[in-house]
Amino acid sequence: MRGEDSNDWDPKSYDSMPLPHLRWGDRVLSALHPIPTDFVLDAGCGTGRDTAKVLEIVTSGGVIALDKSSSMLEALRSKVGDNERLEIVMGDLGSELELNYRCDAAFSVAALHWVKDHQIAFSNLFRLLKPGGRLVFDCGGRGNIASIEGVLRSLLGQWPQFDVWNFAGVLETKENLVNAGFADITVELIKDTIQIDDRKVFAKYISTLVLPFHLAQLKVGERAVFLKDVIDRLPSQEIDYVRLFAKATRPST
Ligand SMILES: C[S@@+](CC[C@H](N)C(=O)[O-])C[C@H]1O[C@@H](n2cnc3c(N)ncnc32)[C@H](O)[C@@H]1O
Repeated sequence: MRGEDSNDWDPKSYDSMPLPHLRWGDRVLSALHPIPTDFVLDAGCGTGRDTAKVLEIVTSGGVIALDKSSSMLEALRSKVGDNERLEIVMGDLGSELELNYRCDAAFSVAALHWVKDHQIAFSNLFRLLKPGGRLVFDCGGRGNIASIEGVLRSLLGQWPQFDVWNFAGVLETKENLVNAGFADITVELIKDTIQIDDRKVFAKYISTLVLPFHLAQLKVGERAVFLKDVIDRLPSQEIDYVRLFAKATRPST
């Protein structure tokens, strides 16, 4: 079920999909390398797959799982259960957050391209880290799902204007991270095309993961037609993901 807000995610459908996010999350966690004493922020935690993995590592630390979706946080709560080392926080990374946590490390997987202003998001992450704290994130980057964006553009005559993503490039990301105060910055774009052979699964994947907010803007009766239009116009059942992968540190002094 979606949350009360119709512009919300469908966690059950999300978790039933063949998610490349598992690999993206593992790549982020192996670069973050949490240690048992760390307090770690999972920014845009969704249903908590990576939150749960980190909780198992930080046996004398803790995890702050932050997301703006009530339905995703509800799913996380029932997945992970009560844990005194876990704090679940509803918050919007795209607005200035007034939270008093100071973490050793912060990470984010497949969330920041939903935040229009990365400068605000990075400043939030900077404030939530201790001096010396490390940040690793993955999200859609410049060129991500270009084939789907192309189809959306070709449909704009028939459908409302959609503008929901922020697929940033390397230089602007470095600049935004520097402006937020970060140092030791590395940023790269990684191509990662996936293919989903089953047409029904492909359609569900596109509606759940790629276009949930486009579809939510349409009348219920228009959604299936729109989805079919998009899928019919795509050259294949591939999703041409390009990941923005970045590491940075909050300086110690
Ligand atoms: C594609 S899901 C990824 C979830 C999880 N990190 C994973 O890898 O499965 C994107 C998540 O980012 C969250 N999100 C999007 N915009 C956000 C914002 N401005 N502030 C906090 N969370 C946000 C969504 O609510 C959603 O749970």
